[in-house]
Amino acid sequence: MKGVILAGGLATRLRPLTLVTNKHLLPVYHKPMIYYPLEAMRKAGIKEVLLTTSGDHAGDFANLLKNGEEFDLRLYYAIQQNAKGGIADAISLAEEFAGGEPLLVFLGDNIFSFDLSEAIARFTAAGQGAMVFGVHKNTESKQYGVIEVNAEGMAVSIEEKPDSPKSDIAQTGIYMYDAKVFDYIKSLIPSGRGELEVTDLNNKYLAQGQLMCEIIDWWVDAGTSFDELLAANNQVAKMVAEGKI
Ligand code: DAU
Repeated sequence: MKGVILAGGLATRLRPLTLVTNKHLLPVYHKPMIYYPLEAMRKAGIKEVLLTTSGDHAGDFANLLKNGEEFDLRLYYAIQQNAKGGIADAISLAEEFAGGEPLLVFLGDNIFSFDLSEAIARFTAAGQGAMVFGVHKNTESKQYGVIEVNAEGMAVSIEEKPDSPKSDIAQTGIYMYDAKVFDYIKSLIPSGRGELEVTDLNNKYLAQGQLMCEIIDWWVDAGTSFDELLAANNQVAKMVAEGKI
């Protein structure tokens, strides 16, 4: 399995913090935000990771992260030409890099400490399909994709930021895909906000009955708002003080 970390987008919701730098380079307590998904990749046992970002900030990432040695992995870079092409557009950049292997994808602004090894074992045993990770949260805020899950741990529905959420399970930015992912992305059309949506991609797997779902304990999307960024800083500071991360 290979890894992909998405660090593009415009982060307009965090301006002026993001006027001259990329959101994923902002501090979360004692480290740049991008360190957290990289450390999570290492913890998951991934050895090769592709980092996707926009051309204007790629040099900053290369200066900071170099070839990934500090994280015990080999790091590759890809430029997303359209910074707001969407999450699925950014994943499509990994086609050659993946070389037919399955992918573990993280959104670069997501922070969590969940051990993914059992989920990777379940995904690998299934032999095909995709996996999403949900977390119990207030889904009324219209900030997240919302997942309905059955007793067998299969997703039954996913909707992007719905007005009337069908569950309290928010879709996190952790995903696993088999090699069919690139064909599915090619069949997507841009949403109302002009993006190739990860929820539309996941719905392709759901339509085939091949979308697994795991529930994780805690998770912060540090890039959504100033409050979430502050919450991420506080959560990490607390966990460092408790020796949990
Ligand atoms: O954080 C979880 C949520 O992420 C999910 O619940 C939603 O279903 C999913 O659509 C997504 O929602 P957001 O609207 O919050 O995504 P955002 O635009 O903030 O982008 C998330 C990450 O992906 C962020 O680290 C930047 C990166 N990104 C985003 C876009 C649109 C890219 O690298 N390229 C892009 O084109």
